[in-house]
Amino acid sequence: MAFSRRDFIQTAIVSSVALGLPAQEKSASTLPGKRPIMVCANNGYDYLDSAFQFLKQGGDTLDAALRVVKGPEDDPNDDSVGLGGLPNEEGVVELDACCMHGPTRRAGSVGGVRNIKNVSLVSKAVMEHTGHVMLVGEGAERFAVAMGHPRENLLTDRSRKIWLLWKEYHSSNDWWGPGLADPHWKAPSDALPHADLMQDRMRKLHQRAGELGIEPEFRLAAVRRVLFPPTGTIHCSALNDKGEISGCTTTSGLAYKLPGRVGDSPIIGAGCYTDQDVGSAGATGSGEENIKVAGAHTIVENMRHGMSPLDAGMDALKRIVRNYNGDMNRIRFMDMTYYVLRKDGAYAGVSLWQGYSATNPHKIAVHDGTLRAEITVAMFKGSSQEFPLMRDIPPELSKDSEYLK
Ligand code: GLY
Repeated sequence: MAFSRRDFIQTAIVSSVALGLPAQEKSASTLPGKRPIMVCANNGYDYLDSAFQFLKQGGDTLDAALRVVKGPEDDPNDDSVGLGGLPNEEGVVELDACCMHGPTRRAGSVGGVRNIKNVSLVSKAVMEHTGHVMLVGEGAERFAVAMGHPRENLLTDRSRKIWLLWKEYHSSNDWWGPGLADPHWKAPSDALPHADLMQDRMRKLHQRAGELGIEPEFRLAAVRRVLFPPTGTIHCSALNDKGEISGCTTTSGLAYKLPGRVGDSPIIGAGCYTDQDVGSAGATGSGEENIKVAGAHTIVENMRHGMSPLDAGMDALKRIVRNYNGDMNRIRFMDMTYYVLRKDGAYAGVSLWQGYSATNPHKIAVHDGTLRAEITVAMFKGSSQEFPLMRDIPPELSKDSEYLK
């Protein structure tokens, strides 16, 4: 039986309220894993095998991880990263990235970079060619050009049309105003239009996608990106047979963000953290929440103090929940996935919610000689909810719909 979106959310809320934090399987992973090994967000799956071969043949751990994340950066059809990334509210693509090289204990980072596709490589250049750790905005762009990166238009025609669709739809409903963390925040349910009116708006949105020239096969996906602005990102950590470890994270950030908004991805200790003595962790999901718990650093420190990768990741998720005192009315609007790799090869993937939808669970891609995608361990059943809140979304447009995959 298929769960409806609302069933799922209600299940999640009920179980969370009843149990506080749901019991998690205790990690069996006090045991070491295999080396070499690479773990990454699932949008890196297609690039993992060749990067793993490079690592196995003696390639540097950071260069191996960068080979993975460069794939989605170069891909115009991946609208979460690099070329084709969904833009800010003004229609401009702004990218964030960072990296940490375990063996030399160095880091580099760039935030809010326009017109440069491979910001992950620029973050490495900051690490190698400057005395700084982080460059942002125009300075970072000029630095990238000085390092030989070409300026190019990152806004693909498809992403531009999706942005136009979003702008029209949200013309009176945007990211300005108090966020979820504001003590005076109220769920927008009071202001919901009548269900019929909402259904009518959804259908018009779909029709308008067609009028804007979005290809028929991509129209429903475009509607989904308007209704559920993604925070797509890619992280990768790599560990070689000598025990050297590195990590990197890159993103176009939250779709339709305010210009200048920087998320967790370029923040050393939030979107990525690597310590040669302990391990590496990275994050995808609600950047604002992850910055507040310094997620990747928290996880690595947890492992330093003896926690398994799974427990270390779950603990960071608990801190996000704690920041909202377990208020599921707010927590349902955020999501987070952590990718955790310990220096001995043990690893874990953990998520706040089970997936993007009932049939599309969060996954971690792993290569330790065998390439695979594994479903993450989730703290709560179900999927996070769209923000702003919408009720009575027609089934064919609901986030749980197979049709929108
Ligand atoms: N985690 C990506 C972002 O929030 O920007």
